[in-house]
This record gives sequence, structure tokens and C-alpha cells, in this order.
Amino acid sequence: MKYNVALVGCTGMVGRKFLEILEERNFPVNELYLFASARSAGKEMTFSGANYTVEELKEDNIKNKKIDFALFSAGGSISLEYAPIFARYGAVVIDNSSAWRMDPEVPLVVPEVNPEDVKKHKGIIANPNCSTIQAVAALKPLHDKYGIKRIVYSTYQAVSGAGASGYNDLVEGYKGEAPKKFPYPIAGNLLPHIDSFLDNGYTKEEMKMVNETRKILHDDSIKITATTVRVPVLNSHSESINVELNNSFELEDIFELYKNAEGIILEDDVNNLVYPMPLDASGKDGVYVGRIRRDFSLDNGLNLWVVADNIRKGAALNTIQIAECMINK
Ligand SMILES: NC(=O)c1ccc[n+]([C@@H]2O[C@H](COP(=O)([O-])OP(=O)(O)OC[C@H]3O[C@@H](n4cnc5c(N)ncnc54)[C@H](OP(=O)(O)O)[C@@H]3O)[C@@H](O)[C@H]2O)c1
Repeated sequence: MKYNVALVGCTGMVGRKFLEILEERNFPVNELYLFASARSAGKEMTFSGANYTVEELKEDNIKNKKIDFALFSAGGSISLEYAPIFARYGAVVIDNSSAWRMDPEVPLVVPEVNPEDVKKHKGIIANPNCSTIQAVAALKPLHDKYGIKRIVYSTYQAVSGAGASGYNDLVEGYKGEAPKKFPYPIAGNLLPHIDSFLDNGYTKEEMKMVNETRKILHDDSIKITATTVRVPVLNSHSESINVELNNSFELEDIFELYKNAEGIILEDDVNNLVYPMPLDASGKDGVYVGRIRRDFSLDNGLNLWVVADNIRKGAALNTIQIAECMINK
């Protein structure tokens, strides 16, 4: 069986990756429809050797098409307006923005972690925040075996996470250009600030990690705090994750757990300087885990270093894996 697939935001960083990954994974595409803003209407894009024309996103261009999956990556306001429209015309929307993630009616899914949640959808499924996806992929085996009491997230996030304009700020910044996307230069700098600030002093990105982790792991009792930082790295997010487990553990069991965990690649051999790095993770599908060590400052404490390609596993790949998960179920 083949499916009619629409890509909304097809010209963006994530949208282009949708095209690449659908082709790479031989996703069973029947008709393909490409949507972006009026600025891109008429542009040609290639998929599996054929040319497709980008259409302006508007209801008139949607209503006569029979779309099975609509993969969205055009920002929150577009998702809020258009996801219900696509769903009304019979599509299952898988959305990359933060617009629907905390809606109790909308499943928030990482296929290695909570695949069964896709069944509860009512037309819209949300793809979690890029930093959350790689974190929960690494935390799920620990949560299942030992239970998680508390998490401290510190992130080192690449500029590609801020879209094409964030990427340009780093590349052009090294040539002396002033930033257009970020409030300060990112070249040779880092910004302890991702998304806007909230009244509690946290950024929205930090609270996304807190709230989305609890929703995906189905456990509101986990205590979580986060600091999210933009760093001058082109692609792939890195995270230091400090976890307090409910039960005691042996380090060798943790290594064993990660050797066999779905979607995880264990890279931890410090004697040979083996640990995950963003340059190595870029272009790959796995969530890389390393620097595994006991946190001596508390009982049952563990430190992890987790790296993944934020445009692939953090966005486009996870979205397509959700669609595959629906097909397989
Ligand atoms: N980058 C990441 O790591 C990442 C990770 C997870 C989730 N996301 C989410 O994915 C979404 C897109 O991110 P991105 O990094 O791909 O951004 P981007 O590179 O800036 O691309 C934005 C896309 O949205 C389209 N768009 C903008 N205004 C539109 C409109 N009025 N109607 C239709 N399409 C419109 C753009 O089309 P034009 O080219 O025509 O302007 C472009 O295709 C965001 O919600 C972001 O939060 C990004």
C-alpha cells in the first residue's frame, strides 16, 4: 500500500530533510504534495528523480487532494491554523512545532519510547522538541529498569535548531556579519537563551524539556530542571544529563542496557578517547550515549552525555518514524 503525503514547510531546514529521509527509507509514497509560503510557490523540488512544484499553503490548494499524512514543519502559528484543516480533510497531521505538544488530546511520540500512544490520535500527532527526543530516548531504558526520580538537563544546542536563519548567523558571523536571528553574535560565543523567557525565569525551551519529558514517559512525578544553551556548532545537539534513579544500580548493567537499547548507539571508551560528538552524529540516525559515570554526590546518581542530529532524529526522522509506526500498527 502507498500513501499520499503532504509536506508543509518543504523549503525549510526540516522540510528539506523530510524529502531526503522519505527517499532514503523508501517510504511508500504515492502522491507527494509540497507546500510552503507564497514566496516559494512555483519553485521546483526533486524527490526520487522527479520534479515537484511547491504550492502556496491555502485551503483551496488542500481541499481537493486526498492526503493520508501531512508532515508539518512551518512554525507554530501555521500549525495552529492548518493542522485542523488538514485533519478535517482526512489527513493525519504529524507536527514538528510546539503548537499541539501539550494538548491532552494530542499524542506526543518518540517511536522507541511510547509507540502505543499513536493509537490515541484524533487527527494530529505531535513530534516532541528536538532536545527532548534525544533525552527521552536515552532515559527510557533507565526509567523502565530503575525508575527516575530527578533529572538535571544542560544542553549545548546547534544553530541549525533555529532554522535556516540561525544557521546563517553562525556562518556569516565568522565573516564579520551582524546576527539577524539571534540577539547577540553566535560566532565565537554562546547564548544561555533559547526561545523566549517566561515569568519563572526559565526559557520556553527549558520548560518544553520539563513538560514534554513527563508527558512522553507518562510520569508527572519526575522532578526536572533544565538549562538550554545555543552554542556555535552547525548541527547536532549535545546534552549533559544528570539523573537520580529510584533504585541502586551497577555501572556495568547500565552499559549493558545501552548496548541493547533501541535507537541508541553506545560510544563510551574514554581510554581510547571515544565519546559522542556533534560532528560525528551529524547525518546519522542514532542517539549517541557516552561519558557514562556515577554521580558521587548523591545516592543512585548517574551522568550521561547524549548527542544526536537535531534535524534528523530531533525532527524529520522522528516524524517519519511516527508515520511508519502508524503504518505498521
Ligand atoms: N530546526 C530544528 O532543529 C527543528 C527541530 C524540531 C522542530 N523544528 C520545528 O520545525 C519548524 C520549522 O523549522 P525549520 O528549522 O525547518 O525552519 P526554517 O528553515 O525557517 O523553515 C520554515 C519553513 O516554513 C515555511 N513557512 C514560513 N511561513 C509560511 C507560511 N506563511 N505558509 C507556509 N509555509 C511557511 C517556510 O517556507 P518559505 O521558504 O516559503 O518561507 C519554510 O519552508 C518550526 O516549527 C521548528 O520549531 C525545528
